[in-house]
Amino acid sequence: MRFPKRVKIVEVGPRDGLQNEQMVVPTEVKIELINRLSATGLSVIESTSFVSPKWVPQMADNSQVMAGITRRPGVSYPVLVPGMQGFEAAVTAGVQEIAVFGAASEAFSQRNINCSIAQSLERFVPVIEAARERNIKVRGYVSCVLGCPYQGDVAPETVAEVAHRLLEMGCYEISLGDTIGFATPAKAQAMVKTVAARVPRWRLAVHFHDTYGQALANILAVLDLGISVVDSSVAGLGGCPYAKGAAGNVASEDLLCMLNGLGIETGVDLTELIAAGLYISSYLGRPSGSKVARALGSEISLAS
Ligand code: HMG
Ligand code: MG
Repeated sequence: MRFPKRVKIVEVGPRDGLQNEQMVVPTEVKIELINRLSATGLSVIESTSFVSPKWVPQMADNSQVMAGITRRPGVSYPVLVPGMQGFEAAVTAGVQEIAVFGAASEAFSQRNINCSIAQSLERFVPVIEAARERNIKVRGYVSCVLGCPYQGDVAPETVAEVAHRLLEMGCYEISLGDTIGFATPAKAQAMVKTVAARVPRWRLAVHFHDTYGQALANILAVLDLGISVVDSSVAGLGGCPYAKGAAGNVASEDLLCMLNGLGIETGVDLTELIAAGLYISSYLGRPSGSKVARALGSEISLAS
């Protein structure tokens, strides 16, 4: 197998993880988690969403979170934005990077953002335009790239089409979301190859939920295709409130352990990352979803 020399880890725990907790995590805890994550060497920490609080009450404190964190130079703190209302609020909160989020499944698009795929892309146009005017970077997500909890199979060509549209519209990176964790390695590779025919590989990221325990195997399979940006979630937090049954993202600690073992550079410190994961797991009152953290955690002080 051939692997990239360096991989960028996009930490999505504070957003994808905490959006799915039954209890609303207090703002100070979110801020402390993000600050701890930014001390690990991570360069991207997706921090919150500027979505409707009626749809996702867990992210209602978005502006307070953005005001409370200590922004480290060199670290980007993107937020999810579904349309202009969220964009304006994100700008007011001083956000410098956003992510728009679409899907390759009509059924999921309706349930998650209450519109069709085509309507969602239309909504993103003014957002991306306004972001460009303000020098705000825009990432694009495509959900359900390997199956949909409502619709079942999703054609890789549809994923490629949506990803290509997002790229054309001005997204600098497209994250391919296996929202429900349906992927297995050969399917993940086939999907990425189909998308890569329309979007350059260096523009692609992968975002695997680990519902069926396949996430690390899938990541290894697509690293071999030259993918070098991987989303993950500290302590394996996560899921999507509009994708019932979805487990958390691949745990960042487990991903980092695999990348370290392969000699792939990330710039991220495993001990600090485990400590950040233990902090949030201890707050949530349950063991970490990361196997590496469970294996090594007792040796690592929460205070580090
Ligand atoms: P809607 O109900 O169709 O739209 O929601 P609306 O414009 O009629 O808005 C409804 C109400 O929300 C209005 O308030 C708006 O003002 C308000 P009311 O008039 O009833 O008092 N509102 C907002 N308030 C604050 N901030 C905003 C905002 N927008 C509207 N930004 C909408 C459409 C898109 C807003 C809604 O469906 C929504 O917020 N959806 C978000 C769902 C979500 O966050 N899902 C999880 C993230 S996606 C994910 O996890 C997948 C990913 O991880 C990748 C993967 O795993 O595949 C990214
Ligand atoms: Mg997700």
